[in-house]
Amino acid sequence: MAVDVLLGLQWGDEGKGKIVDVLSAGYDLIARFQGGPNAGHTLEFDGKKFVLNTIPSGIFFENTINLIGNGVVIDPITLKKELDKLKDAGHDLLAKKNLLIAKKAHLILPTHQLLDAANEKKMGEGKIGSTLKGIGPTYMDKTGRNGLRIGDITLPDFKERYQKLVDKHVSMLLQLYGEVADFSEREALFFEALDVLRQFPLVDSEHLVNNYIKDGKKVLAEGAQGAMLDIDFGSYPFVTSSNTTAAGACTGLGIAPQQIGEVIGIFKAYCTRVGGGPFPTELDDEMGEELRRIGHEFGATTGRPRRTGWIDLPALKYAIMLNGVTQLVMTKADVLSGFEKIYACTHYNYLGEQIDYMPYDICSVKPEPVYKEIDGWNEDLTGITELSEIPAKLQSYIDFLEAELGVPVKYLSVGPDRKQTLVLH
Ligand code: GDP
Ligand code: IMO
Ligand code: MG
Repeated sequence: MAVDVLLGLQWGDEGKGKIVDVLSAGYDLIARFQGGPNAGHTLEFDGKKFVLNTIPSGIFFENTINLIGNGVVIDPITLKKELDKLKDAGHDLLAKKNLLIAKKAHLILPTHQLLDAANEKKMGEGKIGSTLKGIGPTYMDKTGRNGLRIGDITLPDFKERYQKLVDKHVSMLLQLYGEVADFSEREALFFEALDVLRQFPLVDSEHLVNNYIKDGKKVLAEGAQGAMLDIDFGSYPFVTSSNTTAAGACTGLGIAPQQIGEVIGIFKAYCTRVGGGPFPTELDDEMGEELRRIGHEFGATTGRPRRTGWIDLPALKYAIMLNGVTQLVMTKADVLSGFEKIYACTHYNYLGEQIDYMPYDICSVKPEPVYKEIDGWNEDLTGITELSEIPAKLQSYIDFLEAELGVPVKYLSVGPDRKQTLVLH
């Protein structure tokens, strides 16, 4: 059985958590393959709301096992907090035995977070707008071959290894920034959290996932962030530090490319971005404010207001190409109800030419969006359960997008709740 991959096609926060939760019942294993606690995946059901940062979004289904894959970077302190919150809400993952952690996943140290903050401070105006969770410095230590992995926490000399890396970070901080903030409190929390993580099954996840495949079980790889934040193909340097695209599922879980089945790409009916960097269709006006207000566009991890804008088809086509998307999911269609007109960017005016693709540089040269005006719909979508209830004008918008993007919109999400989801095809 192949591994299906679910990932974001924009700048993150497309609704991945909700859709993974909706699809989880049909899978034996849900595996996060990259990113770390920079992610915030929101799930709502039975009047309850959960935000997951590191834990895969399949934990609420009885028979689904969840894996934090080797491509993920783990902050033990955040992970323990997530586990504690879930336990308080009646979901004790240790007791349920439904969470596994890859030994090869890298550890975020308190000093990685200090480095993240110091780097951003140094950049001033040009800063990335990082979530400051230590993601960049941890992936740098991974590729620099200095990192510590989850498997190392069971070694007798872990403390010495930890201290060696911390000493390196401290000397970097002193040399580059002249100061090191006190991190003794976080260090104590870090070791406390490791004691908890040691109680979970720490696994050779590449073997585990391939055994699932061999046994004909169904696996869903859960992405974090979105294609436009990919380290190679996103709006560099305003990106995260991992491959958020489908290829990342191969390296982040240890599976071969031919094992990938469906690639489920999620996008919002409009577009958002949080943090710095280019956003060609951004609405810096009342309309943008309306989208933020109606769509509750505030970061699930940092609470920062998300920047809002219209859907960007050149960017979406680019993401679909990079990922080999076979099915689309459109979320937050309900947020557009009541707008008399909505707009879709079909082309960019770029350096004197009209283009319909993502050019190399959108940071120093701003692509000017060319819009198609589309009639909006007035009906409230949040209660609809039947395809026959989809307003004709929304159906035209979906038909237009399918024709432009060349991939079917298989699911339509009309609200944050698990139940507010329609299967279109
Ligand atoms: P993720 O990072 O991709 O999992 O997305 P986030 O959880 O960061 O952000 C998506 C937000 O939109 C969350 O607050 C969800 O509860 C909410 N959401 C998801 N789908 C829909 C939808 O179809 N309509 C509305 N109104 N909200 C949605
Ligand atoms: P989910 O999985 C939206 C953004 C940050 C910043 C840039 C780099 O919830 O969709 P980092 O902390 O990785 O150094 O930040 O990437 N970013 C996200 N934006 N959703 C996310 O995750 C994000 N994870 C990182 O705001 O601009
Ligand atoms: Mg999010």
